Amino acid sequence: MWHLKINLSTMVFLMVLQGAAVVLLLDWYLEPNSHSPKPPNDKVQVLLLSSWRSGSTFMGQVFNQHLSVFYLMEPLYHVWNTVFKPASVLRIAVRDMLRSLFQCDLSVMETYLPVDPNISALFKWRDSRTLCSPPACSFTPQNPFVDQGQCEKRCNVQGLQRAQNACSTYSHVVLKVVRVFELETLYPLFQDPNLNLRIIHLVRDPRAVFQSRENAAGVLARDDNIVLGQKKTPADERHYQVMQEICRSHVRIIERAVMMPPHFLEGRYKVVRYEDVARNPLEEINSLFEFVGLRMPPELENWINHMTQGKGTSRGGFNVSSRNATNISQAWRSTLPHDKVKRVQEVCREAMSLLGYRMVNSEEEQKSLEIDFLLPSELKKNLGTD
Ligand SMILES: *[C@@H]1O[C@H](CO)[C@@H](O)[C@H](O)[C@H]1NC(C)=O
Ligand SMILES: *[C@@H]1O[C@H](CO)[C@@H](O)[C@H](O)[C@H]1NC(C)=O
Ligand SMILES: *[C@@H]1O[C@H](CO)[C@@H](O)[C@H](O)[C@H]1NC(C)=O
Ligand SMILES: *[C@@H]1O[C@H](CO)[C@@H](O)[C@H](O)[C@H]1NC(C)=O
Repeated sequence: MWHLKINLSTMVFLMVLQGAAVVLLLDWYLEPNSHSPKPPNDKVQVLLLSSWRSGSTFMGQVFNQHLSVFYLMEPLYHVWNTVFKPASVLRIAVRDMLRSLFQCDLSVMETYLPVDPNISALFKWRDSRTLCSPPACSFTPQNPFVDQGQCEKRCNVQGLQRAQNACSTYSHVVLKVVRVFELETLYPLFQDPNLNLRIIHLVRDPRAVFQSRENAAGVLARDDNIVLGQKKTPADERHYQVMQEICRSHVRIIERAVMMPPHFLEGRYKVVRYEDVARNPLEEINSLFEFVGLRMPPELENWINHMTQGKGTSRGGFNVSSRNATNISQAWRSTLPHDKVKRVQEVCREAMSLLGYRMVNSEEEQKSLEIDFLLPSELKKNLGTD
């Protein structure tokens, strides 16, 4: 019976050894939770936060084409359109919807939809590649782009359950929104251990936004009422007031996220100018992909080149079409009357100086295409990202 002969010091040695093994194993098991803020499943949620007419449809489509991404365009439309109260009143409902959708819980939508909704009840559902392809829909598109007609015919299933199950199979959930005006309400989402949230804040020259908004004034009127909280003002004046709110929100968000970020925002926020994307689409989009942990597939690279270097100049409404992005981003200079340019510059002065949009001092300056109104962004310098 040799084992009875083990002496005390051997026993102690073995116990210490076992203890060390347990500690090592525990450490190994606990590591993902105790040492890193990432949730154990490594999923990433991306809020593409922008404002109307700022290139967010295009940018949303870039993410939508990526095979790792579950994408919904403007889900907050349902909150605003159903409840119709001033924006400040809707902030909590907005946050709750974002939190649920980021966790692939689509039941939150049912509050805002008819009873027993089809998937087609979701705003712009046919624009979402993931809702029009397996596993959400058995129809397999021939090319990576959604055939909206086929999707309409074959994917309009009853209930949201299939889409919800599909959502959890993707590594990234990307939501594109234009109905968020501040970050404070969203702070709990950054602190939620089940989320690994990134914000991409897409901004555009307010003069270009204003010009584009004027062309879409009818469609935007209802949202304008929500932004302004039904203040009574003449229609012409309202356009400037909405612009002022949008510009203020850029300043407020950047102050929170860049100038003095709370610790949970660090490394989770990136601001990007539409004009920089228009000039260097691949470079800018690659850097956004890197920021959220996505790789650029070659087919997507081709699509981006096609979309941004096209010959088209038409105003695409809310559709993405092949256009000359550089040319489009300058269109306000020839089409927006100079007195309107001056007004927009007044209401957006602070945002423009923060974002690096040079002021126009005369009509000649405005028309003279040799002058570049895009300055190197101060923000990039501050962040050291360039
Ligand atoms: C809902 O989907 C079913 C097929 O699943 C279809 O027959 C019906 O017409 C759809 N209803 C609506 C309102 O789209
Ligand atoms: C956008 O595309 C849809 C579907 O392809 C079409 O019905 C609509 O007229 C288009 N809108 C614009 C403004 O081009
Ligand atoms: C796009 O427009 C810009 C400015 O008008 C011009 O310099 C450039 O050559 C155009 N590119 C294409 C591909 O047409
Ligand atoms: C954009 O392209 C159109 C047509 O090619 C041209 O007339 C216009 O001057 C261009 N605008 C700018 C700002 O380059």
